[in-house]
Amino acid sequence: MTTVLEALKKNCKNLLNINIKTAKIDSEIILASVLKTDRINLSTQHNLILNKSQELLMSQLIERRKNKEPVAYILNKKDFWNETYFVDQRALIPRPETEILIEMVLKKIKDKSKVLQLLDIGCGSGCLLISCLRELKKSIGIGLDISSDALAVSKINVKNYKLNKRVELHKESIFHFLTLKKFDVILSNPPYLSSAEYDNLEIDVKNFEPKTALKGGHDGTSHYKKIITFASMSLKKNGLLALELGDQQFFKIKEILAENSFRVLDKYRLINGEIRCILASKIG
Ligand SMILES: C[S@@+](CC[C@H](N)C(=O)[O-])C[C@H]1O[C@@H](n2cnc3c(N)ncnc32)[C@H](O)[C@@H]1O
Repeated sequence: MTTVLEALKKNCKNLLNINIKTAKIDSEIILASVLKTDRINLSTQHNLILNKSQELLMSQLIERRKNKEPVAYILNKKDFWNETYFVDQRALIPRPETEILIEMVLKKIKDKSKVLQLLDIGCGSGCLLISCLRELKKSIGIGLDISSDALAVSKINVKNYKLNKRVELHKESIFHFLTLKKFDVILSNPPYLSSAEYDNLEIDVKNFEPKTALKGGHDGTSHYKKIITFASMSLKKNGLLALELGDQQFFKIKEILAENSFRVLDKYRLINGEIRCILASKIG
């Protein structure tokens, strides 16, 4: 017989023993999901006794975490903005810093009831496009991704949020994507890790998340020039380009933006000083 408190302590210790820094929170999230409750409720259920099937499920999930599989893939869900997205190994797990792109875009859009046309380049799970469209209730959008695996995941999320009529998903590389459409907002969190950064990734990321979502060529910036030149032709007047950037890429990207007559309207720095997100629009 194992109580909630005993299970939490045991799982946390097991994960700490193999250097999982998020051991406490991971054990709580996993146990809460086994008990079909919120993590916050566990503290009031310390003496609850787990039944046999709960114990079995919990130990299976903890075993997966011990193999360094990210919790989001184990539970097939990740919270992002105001939504909970379905995720599996076919698409990148949405990251909290990516939410800044949404914040930056929404801050600039005064009339949120207008019909705007959005494009998400490298849409992955669909988190950026879907969360934006749930804020901009009349807008429509295209999610573009080179990976049919990622698009299968975004399709599930589009369906879960009943956005089928407002979203088109296209399997295409941005290097080949052609359209006559003009966009009010282009968003992109492209793959931006340099080869060296990719080689040094934690196992949790490297062994589980899709390489195509992470590797951005030798210095990590291989996608930006194409995204920016595309945006330069395809954004409407006063249209917004929201980009997530890798470490130490800002000055290079700013140069590419300037060459294409963009100016930076907003930027977001991480605590370590790195500029992670920028918002730009065309001059004139
Ligand atoms: C960093 S992930 C971002 C996923 C999602 N937008 C997010 O923020 O969680 C980058 C995405 O770009 C896609 N991608 C990589 N190369 C691409 C290309 N040439 N054209 C379009 N999409 C590409 C990957 O498949 C991946 O889904």
